[in-house]
Amino acid sequence: MTTNASSKRARELLALAPVVPVITIERAADAVPLARALVRGGLRTIEITLRTDAAVDAAAAIIAEVPDAVVGIGTVLTPADLARSAEIGAAFAISPGYTPDLLRAAATGALPYTPGIQTASELTACVTAGFDTVKFFPAVPAGGLAALNALTGPFPSVGFCPTGGIGEANAAEWLAHRNVITVGGSWIAPAAAIREGAWQAIEERARAASRLRTAPR
Ligand code: 3PG
Repeated sequence: MTTNASSKRARELLALAPVVPVITIERAADAVPLARALVRGGLRTIEITLRTDAAVDAAAAIIAEVPDAVVGIGTVLTPADLARSAEIGAAFAISPGYTPDLLRAAATGALPYTPGIQTASELTACVTAGFDTVKFFPAVPAGGLAALNALTGPFPSVGFCPTGGIGEANAAEWLAHRNVITVGGSWIAPAAAIREGAWQAIEERARAASRLRTAPR
C-alpha cells in the first residue's frame, strides 16, 4: 500500500511539535493574540475547528498575521470543508472521522489531510486509500492506550495523532508510544481561557507542552 502525498506531508506537519492545540474560537478577534501566545510558547502547529461561525475568519487572520503558525482546519466533515480549507490557505486539514468522499477528495487534492479513525475497519479503509497517518478519536473514550496498542499490531507503520481526553496528566504516556506522532487536545487553550484573553496562561501551558517528547523511532 502506497502512502499518498497528502498523507505524507500531513505526517511531516504533525511531527513539528509534540502537541497540536485544538482550538474552538468564538470571536475572530481572539485569533491572532491566541496564535501568537501559542507560537511564543513553542507550539506552531494549530488546529482551528470548524465548529463556530468565527472559525474561518479566525484561521484566515492567523494565516495572514502569524507566519510562524502552521494552521490546520479541524472538524472537516465534507469535501466542501476541505476545499474551503485549501481556499483560505490552511497548511493542512484534519477530521474526527472520514467518509469515502472525503478520502477521495483529499487523495486527489493538494492539501495535506489526516482522517480520523476509531476501529480496525476504519483504519483499513484509510490505509488502503493511502492515508497512513490518522487521528485516533476520541482516544481515551475509545479505549485509550490499550486500544492503540492493539491497533498498532496489524498496522505497525501507521502514525497516530490521538485526540480526545488527552491533557497535561496523560500526554507524556501517549507520546511514549512509538506510533504516536503528536497528540491533540483542547487543554492548552480551552474555550474559557480564550474568552478571558488569558494569553499568558495559554503561553505557559504551550511552553510546558512543547517540552514533551515523542518516543525515539
Ligand atoms: C477534538 O475535536 O479533537 C476534541 O474536541 C479535543 O478533545 P479534548 O477536548 O478532549 O482535548
